[in-house]
Amino acid sequence: MKNTLFWRLSASITIATITLFSLINYLTDETEWHMSFIKIEHQQQLNEYAKHAEQLYLQGQHEQLSDWLGTLQKNENTWVAIVKSSLTPTLGTYMQQEYLDRFVLGRGIDWKVHLYFNQNPVMEVPFVDKNTHFLIQLPERMRPGAYWQHMDLLLQVILPLLPLLLLTWLIYQYVMSPLQRLGAATRKFSEGDHLVRVRPSLGSRNDELTDLADAFDQMAENTNDLIIKQRQLIADLSHELRTPITRMEMAIGSAKQGISETELLPRLEKETAEIRMLIEDTLTLAWLENEKPILTGEAFDLIELIDIILEDAQYEFPHAQFITSFPPQLALVDCSQRALVQALENLIRNALKYSPINKAITITVDRRDKSVLIIISDQGNGVPDEYLESIFQPFFRVDKSRDKSPDGFGLGLALARRQIEAISGSLSARNLNETSLHTKATGLQMTITLPYP
Ligand SMILES: Nc1ncnc2c1ncn2[C@@H]1O[C@H](COP(=O)(O)OP(=O)(O)OP(=O)(O)O)[C@@H](O)[C@H]1O
Ligand SMILES: [Mg+2]
Repeated sequence: MKNTLFWRLSASITIATITLFSLINYLTDETEWHMSFIKIEHQQQLNEYAKHAEQLYLQGQHEQLSDWLGTLQKNENTWVAIVKSSLTPTLGTYMQQEYLDRFVLGRGIDWKVHLYFNQNPVMEVPFVDKNTHFLIQLPERMRPGAYWQHMDLLLQVILPLLPLLLLTWLIYQYVMSPLQRLGAATRKFSEGDHLVRVRPSLGSRNDELTDLADAFDQMAENTNDLIIKQRQLIADLSHELRTPITRMEMAIGSAKQGISETELLPRLEKETAEIRMLIEDTLTLAWLENEKPILTGEAFDLIELIDIILEDAQYEFPHAQFITSFPPQLALVDCSQRALVQALENLIRNALKYSPINKAITITVDRRDKSVLIIISDQGNGVPDEYLESIFQPFFRVDKSRDKSPDGFGLGLALARRQIEAISGSLSARNLNETSLHTKATGLQMTITLPYP
């Protein structure tokens, strides 16, 4: 299953989160490092204290030194000491010179100071003799990283806010912009712009949202087709209605001139019947085209059904000749009798109408592997090859003149094809043009293919 959008979003969010975490870590480390040193002016100050103490110490002014240290402690609110360091190994042990060289009592004043100590560290400046040391607990005012807590909060909380906001906005745009276009297109479509399409405006991207746009475009295309067909159907219907209505008006005109009722009523009856049939057929066609129903649920014997239709046709066209080739019986299980009867009647009536009355009509029922073929062939002139599909269009007649096709509206085959499709079959037409040794077969052959379990 294609989950492009899911994978793209997870990849972007993962990459962005990892980058963001690394950036925050880097910036936190860098900032902490830079904030962990005593300021230069404070370092100088501490050095000066140590220098002054060393001077007094070397000059032997111990009393003054002690007073000065007391004042310094008070002023800086800390403790200060001058201490001697001499390490004496006992019990015959021995200390490495390297260790003695590195030995310190406090931290150098240019060292990094850990920002998380509760107590300020003790700083040390050794005197020239290396054995005497000036020690001072770092005065609070000189403690580095005064704003570290705020900085830390800024880096951990405020800093991620901006990129996260940007990331959310980008994802929102990526997901929402096609949906907004779809929304706008839907509004336009509902306002009557049936030519609006979404997919072209989404460029080369290809994911679940473009699938949605494709589905919308497909729906718009189909609905637009349907609307055009319906408009055409209404236009054709009104056009076709004109003839019987004109004839009715003429009949009424004759009535006004005193023509007898007995002559008039059959004419009016014929015209109203024609109008009713025209409207009924058009409505059925519109229903079949709009709803595209699947008609199922009936089981019956196809051969029995065709026999009855042929009997009726024989009654209507007494000179009709039928050549049949059927299996003894053939049960259809999930079908619609009404749809199949109407379609077959249309086809047989056409064959009778459009071929010479003395030429037989052949009806064959042929069982194939997964289908049943019902083939109706006549011996008329067929239809010009370029019209073999057009004859299934509503109101299409090869010969437009109503005189040559007196009873036809051109709806029969359009209805028949949709009725057959409604029972999951198909209907096609081809011209017979087969020359054998002595004869030449011409005519139209209609083939219904029905699914057969
Ligand atoms: N068996 C046939 N042989 C020759 N032409 C045919 C045949 N069947 C149909 N046609 C042509 O196809 C056209 C459409 O047929 P269709 O059955 O849809 O309409 P119709 O027969 O004219 O009218 P309706 O069936 O509505 O009474 C016909 O007008 C005719 O020109
Ligand atoms: Mg017909």
